[in-house]
Amino acid sequence: MLFVIPLPAYNPAFFYTMEILRNISLKKYNTFGIDVKSAYLTELSSEKELPYLLNWIEKSNLPYYLLSGGSNVLFVSDYPGIIIRVNMKGIQKVDETDDHVFIQAMAGENWEDFVDLCLKNNWGGIENLTLIPGNVGTSPMQNIGAYGMEIKDSFHHLKALELKTGEIKTFNSEQCRFGYRESFFKNEGRDKYMILSVCFRLSRRNHVLNTTYGIISQELEKIGVKQPGLYDVANVIRSIRRSKLPDPAELGNAGSFFKNPLITQGHFNTLVSEYPEIPGFPDVSGNIKTAAAWFIDKAGWKGYRDGDSGVHKMQALVLVNYGKASGNDILSLSEKIQKSVKEKFDVNLEREVNVVGDFYS
Ligand code: EPU
Repeated sequence: MLFVIPLPAYNPAFFYTMEILRNISLKKYNTFGIDVKSAYLTELSSEKELPYLLNWIEKSNLPYYLLSGGSNVLFVSDYPGIIIRVNMKGIQKVDETDDHVFIQAMAGENWEDFVDLCLKNNWGGIENLTLIPGNVGTSPMQNIGAYGMEIKDSFHHLKALELKTGEIKTFNSEQCRFGYRESFFKNEGRDKYMILSVCFRLSRRNHVLNTTYGIISQELEKIGVKQPGLYDVANVIRSIRRSKLPDPAELGNAGSFFKNPLITQGHFNTLVSEYPEIPGFPDVSGNIKTAAAWFIDKAGWKGYRDGDSGVHKMQALVLVNYGKASGNDILSLSEKIQKSVKEKFDVNLEREVNVVGDFYS
């Protein structure tokens, strides 16, 4: 049961401050572009609305789902409750030292706009995370990462509302328990907290650039950049991403559909004897981190299309909606891929994307 914040039984302000939409299509609220409906939807644009919202949820006794940019979610059925779009805006400098700035961004800020603002101000630490779809508030949930950088590297703290008590709590990096595409909020904290704002510690000078991943340094050399700045690195990554990852505005997708699997050294050795080219990197756990895209590609799925669901032709890790695919079309394709990779390589692919709704309803 949710905690009820004491409010007058009837508070007209509630009706003026929060608009609750009914029977609304979620197509424009998820980057897969899945056309399901939600019984209710509201946009939360200020923390002041929170007490009213918690009260509404308590009274309605309906399920709720917190949605941000909708870039890591697959809806597989209509939603019977209320979708809460966390949409609070605002970015401010909260502190600075000679070397660092501490920048707090509200959860509803678009991630790429935030990256761009940091680049414009010459604040370093998230430049490799350019063009990742989604909002600031969900970036810590799955510890977003790309090109050798993760959000945990420049994260300072976040503020989150505990839905049960109505209390706002502060979490530092350790309390967030970041892992590879993992955090406390994706596990024990799931559905219990609403992330309100995130504070980053970014460099103001002596930036520590990370250009070792993949072809970043080669690309910089190719364009004749010898002493790259933040923008140079971001721009190279932008062009690499644009060349192989589909833009959700043009082709529905949620980025990587699966996580890169960890396998034992013994299992990896067996695979290497048959496939010497298989990518693999030692992980802190002592296992080997391999590439989900490689397995999917090798199993013959890259570019596969069945009706309107498919596997992207440039990046096998990305499942796509060519227009009218349902959530279940995408989900069942993902299960076929999991089954085939398991049969061929004895490797389990774990979903990165959150599936919402009744399975196969
Ligand atoms: N590969 C293939 N076939 C493909 C694509 C890749 O065989 O179609 C192999 C290649 O050998 C390549 C390896 O897979 O060397 C790894 O590919 P890549 O460097 O493109 O990255 P990834 O592991 O597939 C991860 C993230 C992406 C992120 C890129 C770049 C995960 C689950 N995905 O993908 O994140 O952009 O690295 O850092 O960790 C996302 O999370 O939505 C996302 C796009």
